[in-house]
Amino acid sequence: MRFQTPLTTFEFVMRNALLPIFLTAALSGCAMGSGELADVDPGAAPDTPTWTEHVEPVVNFYCRGCHSKDAQPGAQEDVAYDSCAETKREWGEFRETVFDENSMPPGGADRLRPWELMMLARWWEQGGTCD
Ligand code: HEC
Repeated sequence: MRFQTPLTTFEFVMRNALLPIFLTAALSGCAMGSGELADVDPGAAPDTPTWTEHVEPVVNFYCRGCHSKDAQPGAQEDVAYDSCAETKREWGEFRETVFDENSMPPGGADRLRPWELMMLARWWEQGGTCD
């Protein structure tokens, strides 16, 4: 009996702690990589985001400090989001770092908020137009 206790505790933890984690992961918008996106009120982002009014200000705020040809020395000028065309050309990696890896902007900087992610996703799904 004494030797079974640790095993029982282990099983208890497996069932009661890990199962909810698996369930949460399964239910929380894995397609986007960010669990938060599934919780966003769809009304929080504009229905038809435009580059000029919605996307560019977000890219400007979160990315251009480093990813621009005018960026501070030593920053990442080789990945630049100075125009709509450049941003679209780089979209694959943009999506990867922002949606899948949640690694940009780097370090402790504020990441994009859920409604901003939804807005970007919508813009891209609707064709990513540059107007
Ligand atoms: C404070 C500076 C800074 C900001 C702001 C920043 N980045 Fe970066 N970024 C870097 C640095 C430095 C690297 C190269 C080293 C690395 O990958 O961490 C990089 C690399 C990248 C890469 C290349 C792929 C990779 O993983 O190495 C992509 C794509 C990228 N950033 C996207 C973005 C996007 C999108 C934003 C805005 C949401 C952003 N970055 C904001 C500094 C920054």
